[in-house]
Amino acid sequence: MTQTEYQPVTKDTPFVPMEKLVSLCKRRGFVYPNSEIYGGVSGIYDFGPLGVELRNNIRRYWWWSMVQTQDNNVGIEGAIITHPRVWEASGHVENFVDRLVDCKNCKRRFRQDHLPEENRVQKKCPVCGGELSEPRTFNLMMETYIGVLEDERMKTYLRGEACQNIYLDYDNVLKSSRMTIPFGICQIGKAFRNEVTPGNFLFRQREFEQWDLQFFVHPSEMQKWFDYWKEFRFEWYKGIINHKDRLRFREHDKDELAHYAKQAFDIEYQTVLGWQEWEGIHWRQDWDLSRHSQFSGQDLSYTDTVTGEKYIPWIVETSGGVDRTFLNLLLDAYEEELEPNGKDVRTVLHLHPMLAPVKVAVLPLLRNREELVNTARTVYKRLQRLMVTQYDDVGSIGRRYRRQDEIGTPYCVTIDHQTLEDQTVTVRDRDAMTQIRLAINELPAYLQERVTWH
Ligand code: GAP
Repeated sequence: MTQTEYQPVTKDTPFVPMEKLVSLCKRRGFVYPNSEIYGGVSGIYDFGPLGVELRNNIRRYWWWSMVQTQDNNVGIEGAIITHPRVWEASGHVENFVDRLVDCKNCKRRFRQDHLPEENRVQKKCPVCGGELSEPRTFNLMMETYIGVLEDERMKTYLRGEACQNIYLDYDNVLKSSRMTIPFGICQIGKAFRNEVTPGNFLFRQREFEQWDLQFFVHPSEMQKWFDYWKEFRFEWYKGIINHKDRLRFREHDKDELAHYAKQAFDIEYQTVLGWQEWEGIHWRQDWDLSRHSQFSGQDLSYTDTVTGEKYIPWIVETSGGVDRTFLNLLLDAYEEELEPNGKDVRTVLHLHPMLAPVKVAVLPLLRNREELVNTARTVYKRLQRLMVTQYDDVGSIGRRYRRQDEIGTPYCVTIDHQTLEDQTVTVRDRDAMTQIRLAINELPAYLQERVTWH
C-alpha cells in the first residue's frame, strides 16, 4: 500500500448503531450467523461472498506490511491443535479464566470484573437487584480429543491464542531460516475461547482469527523494540481508517495484565461500543521461551554467534484480531448521506479502496443494446483477471451506483453511447461521486494504481 494516507472525502458521522451494520452485513453477503437454520450458535459467524473478499484483503495487507516488506520478519502457519502440555506451559490451563457470578433471582450471569463497583461490593444484580452468587471460576479453553478409541483418547485444546505455535516453532525457524536476533515470526490464524459473554456481533466471538508478531530480542534492546512496534502498529491502523481521532493507546493497569505480560498497551478504537481494544502490544519478556524450555526439557536459549553470549530471548508481541479489524473497518466506513433531494439516503461504505471487497463494477448504460452489452462484457472480462470485478445491468444507472456504494466499491465504469464512438468510458468515484472519461486501454493501469498496494 502506498504510504500516503487515505483522505476521507466525507464529514464525520455519529457512531453507527450495530444493528444497521449487522443488517447490511447479512443483506449484502458479508457475514451470516453460523448454523442459522438450526437457530444459530452464539458467538460464531460465517463470512459470505463479500465478507471473504474483505477478510482476504485485510489479511493480505497485514502480511504484506509485517512479513513481505520486513527484512527481519518471517511467517509461519501453525496447526490449531497442539500437544496438551503446551497449554500447561503457557499458563492457560491455570490462568485463562473468567470469574462469574449468577443472579439468584433473574438467573443472569455476569463477569465479576465487568460488574459496577457498587454491585460487586453489595453482591446485587445490576439488572433486577437480586442477590448474586459467590464468584465461580470458568476456564476459557475449548477442549477436544485426539484419537478414536475411547480409552486411548488424549484430551487437548483448540488453541486459546494463536501465538503459541510461534514459540513452538521458534527453534525450527531459527535453524532453518538462518535468522539472527533481533527477528520476528508472524502468523495469522484461528483461536478459540469459550467466552462466557460473547456478543456485540464480531467483537467477542468464540471462534475468531488473530494476527501476531512475536519479535525476539536481546533483553538490553527490549524497550527500543517495544516502542518501535507499538508505534508501527498504531500508524498501521491509522493508515486504514477514516476517523483518525477514534484511535488511541491505553496502558494496562498492573491488576489487569495478562499472566504472561509485564507491561501492555492496547490500541483502542472508539465505536458505538465505546473505546475498545483492537490490538494488544505486550511485553512478554522471557515468559514463553523459559516456560517451554522448562516444560519440554528442550533448551530454547539463543547463542550469539559473534559474542558467544547465551540467553533466553525476550519477546515483544503485537496481537490483533482479523475479525475485530473487519468489524472496526466497517463501522469506520459506514455512512448514510442525505441526497440533494433532501429525502433519499445514500448508504455508502468508505472503505479504503485497497481493502474494498469489489474494486470495480462494469455497467452497460442499457441492457437491451447489444453493442453496449458486448463492449461491457469485454471490459468486464479484461478487468476480472486483474481485480475483483462485478458486472451489473439490472435497473437504472443511479440504482446500480447505489448498490455498489453500499458494498464499498470504489469505482464504477459505465459503457455508454460515446464508448461505441471513441472507445472511452466513464469512471465514477464512490466518495466524490465525480466522473471522468478514460480510454478503455488506460483503465487497467488507472484502476490498479488505486486499488493495489505497492
Ligand atoms: N496472544 C495474545 C492475545 O491473545 P488478546 O488481547 O487476548 O492477546 C489479541 O487477543 C487480540 O485478539 C485482541 O486485541 C482482539 O483483537 C482479538 N480477540 C481477542 N479475543 C477475541 C474474541 N473473543 N473475539 C474476537 N476477537 C478477539
